[in-house]
Amino acid sequence: MGCGDLATVILVGTQWGDEGKGKVTDFLAEKADIVVRFQGGNNAGHTVVVGDTEFKLHLIPSGILHPGKLCIIGNGVVIDPAVLQKELQSLIDRGIPLSKLLIDHRAHLIMPYHRLLDEAEEKNRGANQLGTTKRGIGPAYADKYSREGIRVVDMLDDQEFAEKLKKNTNNKNRLLDKYYQTTVDEYDQTQLEYNGYVALLRKHAADCGEVINEAIKSGKNILFEGAQGALLDIDFGTYPYVTSSHPTAAGACLGTGVGPTNIDKVIGVIKAYTTRVGEGPFPTELNDQMGDLIRRQGHEFGTTTGRPRRCGWFDVVIARYSTRINGLSHLAVTKLDVLSGLAEIKICIAYKLNDQIINNFPASLKVLAQCEPVYETMPGWQEDITEIKNIADLPLNARRYLDRLTELTEVPVALIGVGQKRSQTIVVEELF
Ligand code: GDP
Ligand code: IMO
Ligand code: MG
Repeated sequence: MGCGDLATVILVGTQWGDEGKGKVTDFLAEKADIVVRFQGGNNAGHTVVVGDTEFKLHLIPSGILHPGKLCIIGNGVVIDPAVLQKELQSLIDRGIPLSKLLIDHRAHLIMPYHRLLDEAEEKNRGANQLGTTKRGIGPAYADKYSREGIRVVDMLDDQEFAEKLKKNTNNKNRLLDKYYQTTVDEYDQTQLEYNGYVALLRKHAADCGEVINEAIKSGKNILFEGAQGALLDIDFGTYPYVTSSHPTAAGACLGTGVGPTNIDKVIGVIKAYTTRVGEGPFPTELNDQMGDLIRRQGHEFGTTTGRPRRCGWFDVVIARYSTRINGLSHLAVTKLDVLSGLAEIKICIAYKLNDQIINNFPASLKVLAQCEPVYETMPGWQEDITEIKNIADLPLNARRYLDRLTELTEVPVALIGVGQKRSQTIVVEELF
């Protein structure tokens, strides 16, 4: 499909999250009719800057800042109703004319005991902590897969909700009390609190799979907004240092009820360098002044937890792996401006392990932890690129860097980010 055609586009993070998905989603949302979140929960932190105003979205799709767009939270998302209420209220308080929001009946809920368990499990891991966001994400997905979860539709049925909540609270409290020897969840308090969210959920609840599929039939533009990134995928990521959902493109189908034949494009959001929050191996990590410089220039501090992000050079082994498991059709390269002013920029083109060259991202974390990056060095550029609107106006070395990324990943670049603002985006190829 070419420019101007109607399309369904999946947008995913290609690294360890925080690639700038929120910004790119907000940018593309202008031409989309519907923006859908399909997995994760409020572990995500998506920053969107419109004019001089910064918004940090955790659960609500980043299309919400465009009045008139339909925003959907799909069945694959885990919803903390307290966060949902707060996030909606904070947008209202800031005078945002909210777009319409629908929440799928089949989405699972994060309950207070999930947050308590997330905390207790992390503590119990001691030196092997995963560095989770402690938002209850893992335990909520664990309940979904062990068939103990409570869904939006269950909460809208008073009796069903009371029964499930009672049973789950009892079971979780046994774990929290006897095994983890920590704070338990008070059933009465939770019931009272969650009853207060029923009206909100009822207002937004719908069979979103039906809505999206009907919209596809009638030729609407749909944008699926991923959270996290490929290397945090429960199957393909750096397990166990991953999240508990599928941030990869296939997750958009499962997390919304849209079949794969209905997807036109998959855009991978990729930072011009690499970052990671939380624990786990990271071959190109820079534990030196260069890492500090990138963190400072790129403001690399977590949107959700405020933790400093670990920073390193661009990793082609990861980019290729991510391209393969997502079936990427396009790249959106973000934060190119952060690299301005460097004399040299490195790209990791392969790993080396005991004199052996490795091109495929290893499954074993032990192996990954021993991999040494093999670098190619490119000359940097000194110019400020934050006001540039056309790719042709970028400094030659910036264009060479982008060309090299395209050559190595074999995926064309459609968008280039040169700053935080919506307007600081260079369009190379229209996606809608
Ligand atoms: P997400 O989780 O993928 O949505 O990414 P985050 O919002 O957590 O982190 C990305 C950060 O980089 C945010 O503060 C964005 O505003 C910012 N950002 C996104 N794109 C660009 C860009 O092209 N240049 C610069 N300088 N900042 C960007
Ligand atoms: P966005 O959408 C970066 C990381 C956590 C931890 C691991 C598991 O903003 O890109 P979890 O709470 O999900 O069980 O934590 O995953 N993580 C993220 N890292 N960006 C995110 O989201 C993340 N969401 C989770 O730091 O290492
Ligand atoms: Mg983020």
